[in-house]
Amino acid sequence: MKFFTKPTDVTKIECDLVTVFASQEKGNEGFVLSDDAKKIDAALGGMLTEIATFQDFEATPGNTILIHTHGKIGAMRTMLVGLGNVEDLAVADLHAVAATIGRKSVGMAVKSLAVSLSHEFISSLGHTHAGQTMVEGLTLGTYTFSKHKSLDAQRKEKHIEDVFLLTTPPKLDAVAVGISKGEAVSQAVVFTRDLVNEPPSTTTPTYLADVAKKLVKENDLMSCDVLTPKEMKTIGMEALLSIARGSDEEPRFIKLTYKGGGKKTICLVGKGITFDTGGLSLKDAKNMETMKLDMAGAAVLLGIFSVLPLLKPKLTVVGLISATENMPGPKAVKPGDIVRAMNGKTIEILNTDAEGRVVLADALSYAGAKVKADAIIDLATLTGACMVALGEDIAGMFTDDEALGAKLKDAAIKSGEHIWGLPLVKEYKEQLKSEIADVKNISSTRYGGAINGALFLQEFAPKGVPWAHLDIAGPAYAEKDAPLTPKGGTGFGVRMILRYLLELAS
Ligand code: BES
Ligand code: MN
Ligand code: ZN
Repeated sequence: MKFFTKPTDVTKIECDLVTVFASQEKGNEGFVLSDDAKKIDAALGGMLTEIATFQDFEATPGNTILIHTHGKIGAMRTMLVGLGNVEDLAVADLHAVAATIGRKSVGMAVKSLAVSLSHEFISSLGHTHAGQTMVEGLTLGTYTFSKHKSLDAQRKEKHIEDVFLLTTPPKLDAVAVGISKGEAVSQAVVFTRDLVNEPPSTTTPTYLADVAKKLVKENDLMSCDVLTPKEMKTIGMEALLSIARGSDEEPRFIKLTYKGGGKKTICLVGKGITFDTGGLSLKDAKNMETMKLDMAGAAVLLGIFSVLPLLKPKLTVVGLISATENMPGPKAVKPGDIVRAMNGKTIEILNTDAEGRVVLADALSYAGAKVKADAIIDLATLTGACMVALGEDIAGMFTDDEALGAKLKDAAIKSGEHIWGLPLVKEYKEQLKSEIADVKNISSTRYGGAINGALFLQEFAPKGVPWAHLDIAGPAYAEKDAPLTPKGGTGFGVRMILRYLLELAS
């Protein structure tokens, strides 16, 4: 999909399909046409209004009407696209609307698509932001993962080739900037989705390390360090090593560094369990089905690093990934075992399925010992409990620093991702105390699981450095198809973290 911005009149643009927006006013059903929609309506002799009225069209988000234009305007067809009630609109809604336009276009074999940006909501968002959102929505909504299907099936897939974002001459530059941002962000999200969707016997810890090494090749701004088990042992990463013991695959600790200048250093930490069987505390078949997703945090980091040299934010970004399988096996860590993390704290492992926090204990310890960060943000598919609390579409955010939390919240809203703050209540720490070690890896109660996971991580996050934990267990993977997120890996986190980094650097 190639994106262009054009000042061409909406009635003159020659393409397979041109779309225009309609919205609703508070308290009114029905529809209000945008200026460009009115132009098309006039060129079609009022047919758009006539058909929309006849069909009782309601301009709810993503609701559409399609009309064949029979040569009366440049485009073969035109589609009126509902935006909903403008007062309630968020970036996430525009993403979904754009994704719907993309999917419907693919469905009718559209090769060249023009999207009119004429609408008050677009103007209020700003043309750069709106252009970026449209590019992301169209690209991510039409994403497919078909490399493992037959060539025949792949050939039959339809693709939109060219997309023209139509605007007025004064806004062309702003839209063009939005297009290039949107393309970079989408590329990162697609990178992440592809990695998560790939089968788990392919995306082993070694594979993730190879991906990281490849990213930094021939790139002056980036470097990569991969620790082998022997090196991990030397620096005391017994927690990560203990989880890896049940598997034939060697673990890897991956460190990526991007140096874009500026004074700030942000450390990102990703959970990279390339397959989570639960270990000896084995999961049942149903719960294991999707567990290739358990490296989604790591995949988000790799996706982000894949575009940092393109976006060139002026800051340093360090990425740390604890990569291992979690398998049962003759050498597997056993419930009751005690291991020492890199920061010296001992962990009583009572449930080997609470492995994410154990491998992250070493990554956070490493961040404290070896990275001089201004903030640490970890992304982890950590707990099913977070999905119980917030559902499948919202990530839980835990932080010990209000300002960092506010920045992440703002970045999430602006990038159309959903996060919600959950508390790090110190009273619950009691439940993580072990009789025979410093902490245990599960709580004494089955309630508040997402909080307990976060409190465990806090034990290993370095004191004095703002830290945030994002539990992405729900939104990292779509179990059902939605406009912006086809079934499978979603790339959740890429958009908000990139926006956070770019705003920090500007
Ligand atoms: N990877 C899982 C969490 C998960 C569950 C992610 C479902 C995505 C979808 C994690 O390692 C896990 O198994 N957590 C346990 C923790 C429990 C044993 C304290 C859980 O959530 O049940
Ligand atoms: Mn687990
Ligand atoms: Zn896990």
